[in-house]
Amino acid sequence: MCGIIGYIGEKRVSGILMNGLKRMEYRGYDSAGLSIIENDRIKTIKKKGKVSELENLVDHSAVSATIGIAHTRWATHGFPNDINAHPHHDNSNSISIVHNGIIENYSSLKTKLKSDGYTFYSDTDTEVLAVFIGSIYEKVKDLESAVRLALREVDGTFGLLVLSTHEPEKIIAARRGSPLLLGVGNNEYLIASDAAAVIQYTKQVIYFNDNEICTISKDGYHIKTIDNEEAAPIIEEIEFDLEHIEKGGFDHFMLKEIFEQPETIFDAFRGRLLIDEGDVKLGGLRTIMESLRDANRIIITACGTSYHSGLVGEYMIESLAGIPVEVEYASEFRYRNPIIGKNDVVFSISQSGETADTLAAVKEAKKKGATVMGIVNVVGSSIARETHGGIYIHAGPEIGVASTKAFTSQITVLSLIALMLGRMKKLSKYEGQLIAKELINIPEKIKQILELTDEIKIIANKYSNARNFLYLGRGYNFPVALEGALKLKEISYIHAEGYPAAEMKHGPIALIDENMPVVVIATKDEIYEKVFSNIEEVRARKGKVITIANIGDEKIRDVSDHVIYIPETIPLLTPLLTVVPLQLLSYYIALNLNCDIDKPRNLAKSVTVE
Ligand code: AGP
Repeated sequence: MCGIIGYIGEKRVSGILMNGLKRMEYRGYDSAGLSIIENDRIKTIKKKGKVSELENLVDHSAVSATIGIAHTRWATHGFPNDINAHPHHDNSNSISIVHNGIIENYSSLKTKLKSDGYTFYSDTDTEVLAVFIGSIYEKVKDLESAVRLALREVDGTFGLLVLSTHEPEKIIAARRGSPLLLGVGNNEYLIASDAAAVIQYTKQVIYFNDNEICTISKDGYHIKTIDNEEAAPIIEEIEFDLEHIEKGGFDHFMLKEIFEQPETIFDAFRGRLLIDEGDVKLGGLRTIMESLRDANRIIITACGTSYHSGLVGEYMIESLAGIPVEVEYASEFRYRNPIIGKNDVVFSISQSGETADTLAAVKEAKKKGATVMGIVNVVGSSIARETHGGIYIHAGPEIGVASTKAFTSQITVLSLIALMLGRMKKLSKYEGQLIAKELINIPEKIKQILELTDEIKIIANKYSNARNFLYLGRGYNFPVALEGALKLKEISYIHAEGYPAAEMKHGPIALIDENMPVVVIATKDEIYEKVFSNIEEVRARKGKVITIANIGDEKIRDVSDHVIYIPETIPLLTPLLTVVPLQLLSYYIALNLNCDIDKPRNLAKSVTVE
């Protein structure tokens, strides 16, 4: 949600902090701030708005400090304004903190601290934590102990950095439920919620575990648990390079990521497909092969776009392996006391690996004794670490808040799982080979779709002023209709709904008139004729029909205002193709409307609050 960064070393800190904030801005962008120590005093600058607003206030030439912390915020407690922006101070102005997460018992702590005479200036839970740490420091006179003792009393989640003039050559970092890593450089250390913020300086990182606290000075670091036991940190190497988190000539990360899909899909199946055997090898599932074969049911939990890919996975696994699959919003799963049987296997899908609802669902399923596997993009993320095992989708960093390449990589991995389970059950080697061979063709077919950009721009120009959109699809393409609608809503703020095409006549058809663009996915499969009839129903009510159809389908022109022709594939893999024109359509509509495509209003890339 928020992004935090700290630096301690020999370089001037302000540029490094600002650079880190810019790289993490996709995590939250309603305010930003930093604290440094200079001339034995904490200097804090913070400002409502994007990181660029803060940048305008920082005079790098006047800053010689080599230690500091910074934050980019997505508001949870308190409006986005200058006062609520981080960092927050204790009452003596000698302790400054940045925090990602939520202090759930902040209200009772605040009442107690107020009755002890402490004062508060902001509406945030973070300021309560700063003042609380300060109040303990007054008694123990040791910064690490003060932080540790405070955190023992705190309910909730935190990725936390603490800077203090009491011990001006240290940063204290702590983690519970919010991502945090230590970048280990040459005579310098960076602590951040995101590898993207440190990679320019070092690729060597330590991912903190929950309930760890680390004291960092120029000379080294020391990690313990909050219970004061020694931890055993492991240094790992960041898997991606700097170029992966830069726009590389594209106007927006979202467009770059849409265009990366031929490669990212390839990376998702690379080394995993056994073409000759018509089978799949997934090392991350090795330990649960028997549980999977004997599974009575598979439960998939996820949120947003990842939930939509889970729905595609449901169709795939049920069709190839005949195992019943249920897909649940992670946010609902946890709170409805789900029934999980001994032979059920749970898959959690998450791009970021940090989504609080999904993480909570993982913990709930584990508590109930389930085997829980992750399908995750970000290496070392909380969900990747919390699950019993799983599969990385290898899509590389996804910076655009609207998820695109992660969706197609998740579907690719789900198709591998479905194929593997199918081969363990009823699918013949021959059928397996057909699917495997077709999957290999998908990147090339996506390249062909990406060449349709000019056509899609023309359609976008025509409908950019529409206030509502409907998206219709059936079977494998019903979740794609949901995803198409979500993409449009997120980045252009146009109201859009996705429906199974046949459901339209049970209600949404009342909305259709000459002002309603209806995007219909009508690729050639066994329900093509039914979808064709659904299009006729839209036409009869004067709706404007934009159809995604297969090359060669001339008949569909007669019932469509616009047709986007895409290559044919087997029904199982169509979502990998049909979603691409929908991503582009949303992108160009949002561009016409001058929307902030990579940082849509009110959204954050990873939603680390429930
Ligand atoms: C997608 O475009 C969204 N920004 C959002 O729905 C996202 O998919 C959801 O928050 C889940 O995120 P995750 O995959 O990182 O868990």
